[in-house]
Amino acid sequence: MHCNIRSVSSVAALLLLVTASAVVDACQRVRHEHSTPLVKRESAPLTPLTPDEDVLVRSISNTTLSEWSYYYTHGQHLAGRNQSMAQWTADRWAESGIAAGLVSYNVYLNYPVSKSLRLRHASNGSVIFEPALEEAVLEQDDTTGYPDRIPTFHGYSATGHTSAEYVYVGRGQRADFQRLLDLGVPLEGKIALARYGGPFRGLKVKNAQEHGMVAAVLFTDPAEDGDMTEARGHAAYPDGPARHPSAVQRGSVQFLSTYPGDPTTPGYPFKPGVPRADSAAVTPRIPSIPISYAEAVPLLAALVDHGVPGQDVNRTGWVGALNVSYSTGPAPGIVLDLSNVMEDQITDIWNAVGVLNGTTHADETIVVGNHRDAWIVGGAADPNSGTAVIVELARALGRLVAETGWAPKRNVVLCSWDAEEYGMLGSTEWVEEYLPWLNATAVSYLNIDIGTSGPHPGLSATPELHDVAVETMKKVLWRETDRTMFDVWNEENQGGSDYTAFVHNGVGSLDIGSWNGGSDPVYHYHSNFDSYHWMTTYGDPGFVNHKSMAQYLTLLAYKLADADLIPFNISTYGSEMNDYFADLEKTVAATNSSAALDISPLRAAIDDFTAQGTALGALQQRLLSPPPGSSSPSSEGGNAAGGALTLKEVNQKSRDFQRGFVSQGGLPGREFYKHVVFAPGVDTGYAPTTFPGITEALVESRNVTLAEEWVRKTAAAIKVAADTVKP
Ligand SMILES: *[C@@H]1O[C@H](CO)[C@@H](O)[C@H](O)[C@H]1NC(C)=O
Ligand SMILES: *[C@@H]1O[C@H](CO)[C@@H](O)[C@H](O)[C@H]1NC(C)=O
Ligand SMILES: *[C@@H]1O[C@H](CO)[C@@H](O)[C@H](O)[C@H]1NC(C)=O
Ligand SMILES: *[C@@H]1O[C@H](CO)[C@@H](O)[C@H](O)[C@H]1NC(C)=O
Ligand SMILES: *[C@@H]1O[C@H](CO)[C@@H](O)[C@H](O)[C@H]1NC(C)=O
Ligand SMILES: *[C@@H]1O[C@H](CO)[C@@H](O)[C@H](O)[C@H]1NC(C)=O
Ligand SMILES: *[C@@H]1O[C@H](CO)[C@@H](O)[C@H](O)[C@H]1NC(C)=O
Ligand SMILES: *[C@@H]1O[C@H](CO)[C@@H](O)[C@H](O)[C@H]1NC(C)=O
Ligand SMILES: *[C@@H]1O[C@H](CO)[C@@H](O)[C@H](O)[C@H]1NC(C)=O
Ligand SMILES: *[C@@H]1O[C@H](CO)[C@@H](O)[C@H](O)[C@H]1NC(C)=O
Repeated sequence: MHCNIRSVSSVAALLLLVTASAVVDACQRVRHEHSTPLVKRESAPLTPLTPDEDVLVRSISNTTLSEWSYYYTHGQHLAGRNQSMAQWTADRWAESGIAAGLVSYNVYLNYPVSKSLRLRHASNGSVIFEPALEEAVLEQDDTTGYPDRIPTFHGYSATGHTSAEYVYVGRGQRADFQRLLDLGVPLEGKIALARYGGPFRGLKVKNAQEHGMVAAVLFTDPAEDGDMTEARGHAAYPDGPARHPSAVQRGSVQFLSTYPGDPTTPGYPFKPGVPRADSAAVTPRIPSIPISYAEAVPLLAALVDHGVPGQDVNRTGWVGALNVSYSTGPAPGIVLDLSNVMEDQITDIWNAVGVLNGTTHADETIVVGNHRDAWIVGGAADPNSGTAVIVELARALGRLVAETGWAPKRNVVLCSWDAEEYGMLGSTEWVEEYLPWLNATAVSYLNIDIGTSGPHPGLSATPELHDVAVETMKKVLWRETDRTMFDVWNEENQGGSDYTAFVHNGVGSLDIGSWNGGSDPVYHYHSNFDSYHWMTTYGDPGFVNHKSMAQYLTLLAYKLADADLIPFNISTYGSEMNDYFADLEKTVAATNSSAALDISPLRAAIDDFTAQGTALGALQQRLLSPPPGSSSPSSEGGNAAGGALTLKEVNQKSRDFQRGFVSQGGLPGREFYKHVVFAPGVDTGYAPTTFPGITEALVESRNVTLAEEWVRKTAAAIKVAADTVKP
């Protein structure tokens, strides 16, 4: 599984309802030991489509998807660099009958100017190795050779020049650094050489900085590539499915688990004249550069026989797949000269935003989004497979309007974000600007980032969306086979319940994509080789994955916009919180806090929430199948079948209950994150922490008083949600 791949991208999903934003990597499909046992797996027959659904599904074409993909992958579109691509996106939506325009923000970004790296003997200056720090230009793959191709670099990295001995720090997690200290390996004043994988790259740099290290070099290890390696006999791209040895992973080194968004406007939207904060809290002070595995080999080889050999370090993910010992170093007298020059800019970014106004439920909104910016000219998987899908979704909705006169009951808003890659700037600024309206009307945010990097469907969603997300999979044929998307997803996610492949994150959001596994062609994440040529040759020949994803997202958006009753199962939120509570009990035991900490108020709040969710569910059922003689479910007026509540009132509960989870203020030291059930892990940046206020107080701060305070806040927030749900 390529967990590293999902990274920052899926984080965007959650930002939409920043009211409750939690940041999670969809790839960290955390499986819960407590989930319901496996039931016998059967293929589900394709659920019959309604006439409207049939129009939508038939409208989606691999030919147009490939055209959109070609357009997006043949021009530079680094954050803040391509306004015409934003306008082109809005124009395609407008052609489909969706009112669309650009919304721009003036933000802080930095761009690469120059860099160099040299391995040499300190004593006499003789150079051992000087990496090119460039990816190969391939004849078969036109965009790898574009004159305006983007250098390898880290977004938001610092400018700096340094010469020092260096130490291999594994994946650069806090525990890796602790292990090095325990082993007596000197860190202060050295350069960190770290593997990608595990924690978000910005946290590797942050951890190095916090240990007094002066720079960081990050490399991709072929250990990420499962069976698809040259060492196991597979030819490298473009001749085969293995990783090209020169591939480099670009990416942001922002300290994402502290704050996403424009570092200079934390928590508020950019407007002309707003004060700008210092970005130092969330961007590194030390320079860093990314390198390929081929160019990492001489650096690792020079450490062999120095410091502690990798196997004796005995840390997860320390030893990779290269033919070296992964020794810690440092090698006395062997130094790296590292130079990195970045240019700071306050510059415009452009979101494209399209709106279809709702007819009967105009105070309820479904937002569908995808980012558009890429680290490279290509970006065929990340993010433009998703961008192609959203353009196709707009085309399908336009077709439905044209053929049947359909109009959505709820507002449908399409968003094409800029500057996601640096730290979700486009989406964060937009949410911050439109928060009052979103808080009042948003029902769900549906995100697609990497629409496809391979043939395995994956979803993550907040619990209330699980049922409708799964039901919709039964309406889509997967990759033009005779199997539904549900069949494939269900089969591949054995080992947990149907829902455990989901990651549970922020409020009312869902993130979809399809991924490459360990025996699929390697996806060159954030590299020039994530190109149209790669996509058509290895990633998705025939655009069949694109097509299934487009059908899925379109049907789901349609359902959420069109169903009289918002199709949420709120009880599922209660069951998920039960699972997280069991995890918390283990954390309490593991930190020896049982005697000092009473978590029963949380237990009571979850039980209350679950009871209210079940009661509301029963009411929803009665509204869907009213007893004979009562008014129809679409009635806006009083409804005998629904008891005292009207359909509209039930829908408002579905829309609003999650606001409760964010009602108690932000987490200590990172106030942006307000959701009491989920937050990005402080030390992972990707994987979610559940009940973060309590868990972090116990595990990170080791402060039972603080944990007690967060038991209170967490229970109070869940109580606010429960009171909203209460019929
Ligand atoms: C923007 O992207 C389009 C489409 O890929 C491309 O044709 C155009 O040259 C790009 N513009 C710039 C300024 O790079
Ligand atoms: C430089 O010094 C190193 C050892 O310190 C030695 O191995 C190397 O051969 C020397 N190179 C030159 C060109 O003198
Ligand atoms: C490696 O670490 C594991 C778990 O921390 C421990 O059980 C094991 O004994 C260690 N092995 C060595 C060789 O130190
Ligand atoms: C691994 O490296 C060692 C030492 O440099 C060398 O002897 C060996 O042939 C290498 N193995 C492979 C498979 O390349
Ligand atoms: C949608 O509704 C809003 C608010 O009522 C209105 O300002 C806007 O013009 C409408 N847009 C379209 C495309 O009808
Ligand atoms: C969001 O709406 C809730 C009511 O559902 C309200 O209590 C809260 O103050 C609102 N928050 C913001 C930021 O507007
Ligand atoms: C679209 O799919 C058809 C088969 O259904 C295939 O023949 C065609 O080549 C595909 N088009 C593209 C652009 O991949
Ligand atoms: C909602 O989910 C719960 C458990 O998560 C399940 O027992 C219940 O049947 C679901 N409700 C509906 C209407 O499907
Ligand atoms: C908890 O107590 C056990 C036994 O006294 C001890 O081994 C362990 O280190 C303690 N754990 C923590 C996190 O304090
Ligand atoms: C523990 O948390 C409490 C409540 O936030 C705070 O007042 C106290 O100073 C903290 N204790 C330590 C040792 O940090």
